[in-house]
Amino acid sequence: MARRKIALIGAGNIGGELANLAVSRQLGDVVLFDIPSKENFAKGKALDLEQATSLTGADARVLGTSNWEDCAGADVLIITAGIPRKPGQSRDDLVAVNLPIIRDVADAAKKHCPDAFVIVISNPLDAMVYEFKRRTNAPAEKVVGMAGVLDSARFALFLAQEAGASIKDVRPMVLGGHGDDMVPLLSYTTINGLPVRQLLGKDVLTKLVDRTRKGGGEIVSLMGTSAYYAPAAAAIAMAEAYLGDQKRLLPCAAYLQGQYGCRDLYIGVPVIIGKGGVERIVEVELDEEEKGMLKKSVDSVQKVVDVVKAAG
Ligand SMILES: NC(=O)c1ccc[n+]([C@@H]2O[C@H](COP(=O)([O-])OP(=O)(O)OC[C@H]3O[C@@H](n4cnc5c(N)ncnc54)[C@H](O)[C@@H]3O)[C@@H](O)[C@H]2O)c1
Repeated sequence: MARRKIALIGAGNIGGELANLAVSRQLGDVVLFDIPSKENFAKGKALDLEQATSLTGADARVLGTSNWEDCAGADVLIITAGIPRKPGQSRDDLVAVNLPIIRDVADAAKKHCPDAFVIVISNPLDAMVYEFKRRTNAPAEKVVGMAGVLDSARFALFLAQEAGASIKDVRPMVLGGHGDDMVPLLSYTTINGLPVRQLLGKDVLTKLVDRTRKGGGEIVSLMGTSAYYAPAAAAIAMAEAYLGDQKRLLPCAAYLQGQYGCRDLYIGVPVIIGKGGVERIVEVELDEEEKGMLKKSVDSVQKVVDVVKAAG
C-alpha cells in the first residue's frame, strides 16, 4: 500500500510541530508548504526533521516547498497559513489579514488537492473554515476546523490538576465557536464517567471554565505569540481519526445545516470522524444555561462570518 501524504500549509510554529508529530507517528510522507519568501525556511525545517528520522527510525519523507504541485494528491491537508495573535489582539482581529490568505489557499487546494480531508487551524477559526468551504465548495464532511479538541485539552488539564486526578481519566467537552465565549459543557464533562460537578465545587468549576475560555490568550501573553504544541497535537488526533477510520467522537468545527438551530455556519459540535471524514454530527441535549451560552457564541461567530461575506 502506498504511503499516505500529509500536506501542511504554513511551515511556521504549528506547521513545524505538525510535521514533527506526523513523522513520529508515521502518518505518512509530509509536505511542508510555505510562501516563496519562506521556501528555504520550509526546506530547512523539512531537512532537519528528515535527518531526525535516522535517530527515531520513522519511515517518512519530509519535503519543504513553495510549489503547490508538490501537495497534489494529498490525503490530508492541514492549514495554518496566516498570522497568529499578538498580545492584546483577539482572534477576530486577524480576519482582515488572514482572509486573503485563506482564499489563496482555498483556490490552490481546490485545484491540487480536491480529494483531501481538510483541517483548518488558521484564525479566526470558525470564519476561516467557513470561507474555505464556501470558496472550494468541497463536501461538508471533508472540511473541518480544529478548535474544540484543543479547548477541551486545555479544560482537561485544568480539571485534572484541580481534582488531583490523572489527565487520562478526564473526559471534557467544549463546544461553540473558538472565541472567549466558547462553551465548556459541565453537564457532559466527567472524570472517568463521574460527573465533574460531583467532584469539584461550583466556584472552582467557574474559575476553570473562565481559564479555559481565555486559555489561548494566557499563552499569547506569556510567549508573545500563539500556542503550537497543543494545537498541533489536537489536529493530529483529528487527522489520525480520519486516516485510521477510528470513528472518534471529537468536538470539531463542523458545517451545520440545521443542527443546534444553526444553518450555513461552522460551529464547534461533537462529530464522529472516520474514513468518510465527518461521518456524523451528534446532537446532544443542552440545559437552558448551556443553550444560552451556545447562542451567544454562535452570534459572535455569525458576526465575523458576516464580515467575511461582506468582503465578497
Ligand atoms: N484553531 C486553533 O485552535 C488555533 C490555535 C493556535 C493558533 N491558531 C492560528 O493558526 C495560525 C498559524 O499559527 P502559527 O503559530 O503557526 O503562525 P506562524 O506565523 O508561526 O506560521 C504561519 C505560517 O503561515 C505562512 N503563510 C502565510 N501566508 C501563506 C500562504 N498564502 N500560504 C502558505 N503559507 C502561508 C507564514 O509564512 C508562516 O510561516 C494563526 O492564524 C493562529 O492564530 C489557531
